[in-house]
Amino acid sequence: MRKYKTFFSSFHTIYRLITTSANVTNFLVGACRIYKTALSADDVTIICKNINTHHRFIKICLTKNKERVQKGGISILNAREKEVFNKGKEIFDSDNLIYPFIFSEILGIVSIKRKTLKSPFNEFEKKWFLSICEEISIGLKIFDLLNETKKYMLNYIKSLTKLLNQFVPTSSIHPKSIFCLIKAIGKELHLTKEEIKSLEYASLLHDAGKMQLPSKILKKQKPLTDEEFKMIMEHPHKGVELIKDLEVLRPVIPIILHHHEKYDGTGYPDGLKKEQIPLGARILSVLDAFDAMFFGRPYRKRRYLIEIEEELKNQMGKQFDPKVVVALLKIIKRESIKKYLQSFL
Ligand SMILES: [Fe+2]
Repeated sequence: MRKYKTFFSSFHTIYRLITTSANVTNFLVGACRIYKTALSADDVTIICKNINTHHRFIKICLTKNKERVQKGGISILNAREKEVFNKGKEIFDSDNLIYPFIFSEILGIVSIKRKTLKSPFNEFEKKWFLSICEEISIGLKIFDLLNETKKYMLNYIKSLTKLLNQFVPTSSIHPKSIFCLIKAIGKELHLTKEEIKSLEYASLLHDAGKMQLPSKILKKQKPLTDEEFKMIMEHPHKGVELIKDLEVLRPVIPIILHHHEKYDGTGYPDGLKKEQIPLGARILSVLDAFDAMFFGRPYRKRRYLIEIEEELKNQMGKQFDPKVVVALLKIIKRESIKKYLQSFL
């Protein structure tokens, strides 16, 4: 009875692992632990094509409850592991089972070992092992597909940004410097990794809606008429239209929609004030203004840091959230940040 309990619980654990792992490494470490517990293995090794970085393979070895993570080329595989990886065929010894994870292609392999003094793997355990391998293959495929989706989305963002910079050069921000400030401000304001990622995407795409406005308005050097300004005010909504169907960009929508709101409620499109404005939008509004002042724009000369600091302080509580301005002022006082920003000039 106990054996059956462990048997079924191993599949529940795999399901939970697939649905809750933040990344492929966590998933593989969890998978190693399942093999170890379910099949009383002493050593478990899982190798898979590395999904997230430029290394070709990721290898997790679990021995005596300690895991070792290695990333690298083919040299991190031993001869037996290479054989299973290349041929896609299992090797079953009495004390060592090696099997490929297959889902339309070979995604990885697993090797589990028992000390020779222990009883060998029996037929039931071998079948159990194969079933676990099938479930882990599905998990790996899901991570693989998620990664592909991420790549497509990044390409979509890159293409949109390229088009935006071509058609609306007045909107172009400096991605490397703004990403650096987003990371620093994210740390200061205790943002999560996901919130920081959303801000990065929003910093690239916040003015994408301007691509749908007549270029004569965007290029106009003289003050805009009321009618023209009304059209400009539509760009946050138009920007949201471009990304609203992409699930991964959902958290970016409120940032894009409200990046022209002002802390005192005099902004657009909804005249939100203070904490009614999403935090991401309050941060982006400050960083966008900083970028425009620090690097200048075709219609405006660049300004010195000391002048920028003064301007940001003046707008605290008016255009900008004081909390965000304080964080940014603290960050741009750091010598390392100053040097990094100057390197783009
Ligand atoms: Fe904008």
